[in-house]
Amino acid sequence: MIDLHVHLVPGVDDGPKDLETALALARLAYAGGVRIATLTPHHMPGMYENTAEQIQGYVKLMQDHYDREGIDIHLLPGQEAFPEGDLKERYENGELQTLGGGDYLLVDLPQQDCPYYIEQLLFSLQAKGLMPILAHPERNRALRHHPERLQAMINTGMRAVMSAGSLHGAFGVSAQKAAQEFLQRGLIQLVASDAHHPDGPAYFPLQNRPVIEALIGAERTREVMEINPQRVLDSKEIPVTIIPFELAQAKKKPSLWARLFSPSAV
Ligand SMILES: [Fe+2]
Repeated sequence: MIDLHVHLVPGVDDGPKDLETALALARLAYAGGVRIATLTPHHMPGMYENTAEQIQGYVKLMQDHYDREGIDIHLLPGQEAFPEGDLKERYENGELQTLGGGDYLLVDLPQQDCPYYIEQLLFSLQAKGLMPILAHPERNRALRHHPERLQAMINTGMRAVMSAGSLHGAFGVSAQKAAQEFLQRGLIQLVASDAHHPDGPAYFPLQNRPVIEALIGAERTREVMEINPQRVLDSKEIPVTIIPFELAQAKKKPSLWARLFSPSAV
């Protein structure tokens, strides 16, 4: 399984503080089913640099550690880029690192607001051929209150990745409910751990699968957990089907629905 959003590098952001902790997190990821991971340190000018060049160095360094420790996870470069005003310039300067070196760029979102310049900023990246993936929209208060704004961004070609901990309640009830609803409505196309520390919240594929299957069924679970992450690494388009709100509400009680209809339709 592929983890497209995870903080596995020690001492470079708010992830693990030292190598020992970073390796403990990697072992948890392996035990949780991860076999390929993109390193996604925060890139937030003035706070965390983590330029593309640095991240490519981290991949080599950490892969050497994994090989020595027998941790069978293949590492690829990535980044979680904060969408400040000069994001386009940072791309042009070569500071941004796409996921696996392809066309998709993981874009951080603030926890509370989602300033309206963000759409314009991301459109300007799309015009350059980049495909933004919004990180954890379920944890953003503005998008929780106005999911139609997220929907509009998805309709313009952006995609969204949930932090798995949201589904498990790690970021509060509001984020949990939004994670469920966004998944059911098709507003989330990818699930990743976004793990920072081995002591949590750190939820990897083997823990997530049953929870996600209960919400959206086995077929769509395979899409968000396996097929779409591979599409990201291959720079292929991720198809989207957004389910109207009323239907998604009906699907919040999947057990009866699942018994009455085909499980693959849930
Ligand atoms: Fe992150």
